[in-house]
Amino acid sequence: MPVTLTWTGHATWLIDTGVGVLLVDPFFDECPTAAMKAADVACDAILVTHGHFDHVADLVAVAKRTGAKVFCNWEIGQWLGGQGVANVQPMNLGGSALVPGGRATMELAWHSSSLPDGTYGGNPCGWLLDVGGRLVYVAGDTGLFSDMERIGHRRDGRRIDVAILPIGDLFTMGPETSREAIHLLKPRLALPNHYGTWPPIEQDAAAWAAAVAADGVAAAKVLVPGESVSV
Ligand code: NI
Ligand code: MN
Repeated sequence: MPVTLTWTGHATWLIDTGVGVLLVDPFFDECPTAAMKAADVACDAILVTHGHFDHVADLVAVAKRTGAKVFCNWEIGQWLGGQGVANVQPMNLGGSALVPGGRATMELAWHSSSLPDGTYGGNPCGWLLDVGGRLVYVAGDTGLFSDMERIGHRRDGRRIDVAILPIGDLFTMGPETSREAIHLLKPRLALPNHYGTWPPIEQDAAAWAAAVAADGVAAAKVLVPGESVSV
């Protein structure tokens, strides 16, 4: 059973594991490039990388409407409780939890994390998903870090099937550093996100994909918001 990943825009993804749909970083109604509205999202679980508005703006509304369990760090979990969201699985770096279709491990990310009302948001994270027999790495907002080599090299020899990486620069890795990340992670497929939403993070994703392909480590595919890929 393939795993299907749909980019709805910016850093928001719907990942259909064959058993359920995981929603990553809900940001719809205020996102200039979003392919759908928060009211139309269906999901079975929600994964959050950090507290910045462009990752949680629609989190409370979608969590309340769907009842989907939210997987996030301790601090965001506490904040969600205060917002009336009860179905939360708080975690922290290195921990893993069962999600529909497999297991989600909270991985490192080098970034910052505060919630829209100024509340401290704990450490930012990425997610390594072992779902539907595939390894899916969601880097989240992060700079390049050498532990990506460890994340991509497992004792069992499995490779990351698909890595979702930021390429927007300024707030995260840019086109060049994401290519270094691919060199460390060695995924089969790389998908860009966190670019093109606003002018400061505009990037030529087609040029990036051509450069990644020339690097010879991973395939690269550029989606448009609303488009899906199955791995
Ligand atoms: Ni951020
Ligand atoms: Mn962001």
